[in-house]
Amino acid sequence: MERLIIKGGIQLHGEVNCSGAKNAGLPILASTILFDDPISIFNLPHLKDISTMLELLNSMGSEIRFEEEDGIEIDSSSIKKPEARYELVKTMRASVLVMGPLLAKYGKAKISQPGGCNIGSRPIDFHLAGLQKMGAKITTDSKFIYLEAERLNATNFEFPKISVTGTENLIMASVFCKGTTVLRNCAREPEVVDLINFLNSAGAKIKGAGESVIEIEGVDKLKKVGWSILPDRIEAGTYLVAGAITNGHVRVKGIESNLLEPVIQKFREMGVVVNSGKNYVEVDATTTELVSCSLDTEPFPGFPTDMQAQFMALNSIAKGVSMIAENVFENRFQHVVELQKMGADIQLDGHKAKIVGVSNLVGSSVIASDLRASASLVLAGLVGKNRTEIEDIYHIDRGYQCIEEKLNKLGAEIIRQPAI
Ligand code: UD1
Repeated sequence: MERLIIKGGIQLHGEVNCSGAKNAGLPILASTILFDDPISIFNLPHLKDISTMLELLNSMGSEIRFEEEDGIEIDSSSIKKPEARYELVKTMRASVLVMGPLLAKYGKAKISQPGGCNIGSRPIDFHLAGLQKMGAKITTDSKFIYLEAERLNATNFEFPKISVTGTENLIMASVFCKGTTVLRNCAREPEVVDLINFLNSAGAKIKGAGESVIEIEGVDKLKKVGWSILPDRIEAGTYLVAGAITNGHVRVKGIESNLLEPVIQKFREMGVVVNSGKNYVEVDATTTELVSCSLDTEPFPGFPTDMQAQFMALNSIAKGVSMIAENVFENRFQHVVELQKMGADIQLDGHKAKIVGVSNLVGSSVIASDLRASASLVLAGLVGKNRTEIEDIYHIDRGYQCIEEKLNKLGAEIIRQPAI
């Protein structure tokens, strides 16, 4: 398998472009199932997860034409086989996002059981409960979930706990329901808002984007539109941590600061200077002595769980003691043991981690266990003395477009060693 080899200890300087958001691209691609026309989508990131979603749509009958550099035209108007296969759901749980639109448009869906994953059991019971409340008949066996509904009905549904893809699935399922569907305790993430804005631009009637109550008034059909995916706040945040952790000065272009508010606040608490302007956010840590800061992950607008691992790497070399509480996922500390190999002083207690800052990390041979965990190892490798080798980097490619190219542009020395 491929590995990344990172020479640590180089201050990063310069500018890097932010790609489109994976977590907005995935539901928006799934939502093309709702349309009768081909849809053009731009600013799609070149990521494994996006190719997996395209492969899934293509396996069901969508036709995909690659347009300019970051654009595609996708025609999902004649799905022949509404089935998400095991091989695809296994590699990407977000494949379950096709459930809602398939039911809304074709009245049936067959989805491989998603099972557990590296960051916890991650059930989809809320998605299923909501669809059931809308009238879907759901049966399961050990391999598949079968959903059927001659017609979905508008309903009221309250999520027991906030779920990003759950909210997206039920919004997509409700678009054609007669009457008004009311969803409560919804996710307020910018990526959910991007999906809603896209659907509304195509004629859907969805109120409450960015709020916890969302109302969907059913429409008969959606009209042909084009859409440009919103920038990836997690990718941007990761490159900003790369600047901060190396005491460097890094500007991320193509993103507005409002998408990164809780992250910017934590940088400032740690002593990092953050500036922003039209279409950029930058960190300057060239004169900063990093100080620890504690944080709790929460659904938006709280601190994102997808930035927890990166901030743990940053706190590992900050002065003082910090506590990080992971409140969204049950098992999202797999990077801890790898950071410990690199000299980090971290103690785990359930869903909390205590980090005692050390003066520096030391390069080591480490294993990427999930997407954001791997990002934290790259960041630790950038600052750690000597050389860090990261195995199983396919996790990184799921969520970061050309990570080593972008970091090398900032002065890093990272090479990708091909599989032997
Ligand atoms: C999405 C993001 C992921 C991010 C996460 C939290 C995508 C493609 N992925 O994942 O990057 O880390 O939001 O911001 O957008 N839960 C249940 N039952 C359900 C659904 C969720 O118990 O039916 C639980 C989960 O196990 C988890 C919590 O709810 O503990 C939040 O999960 P959720 O928001 O659904 O995460 P995803 O949508 O899978």
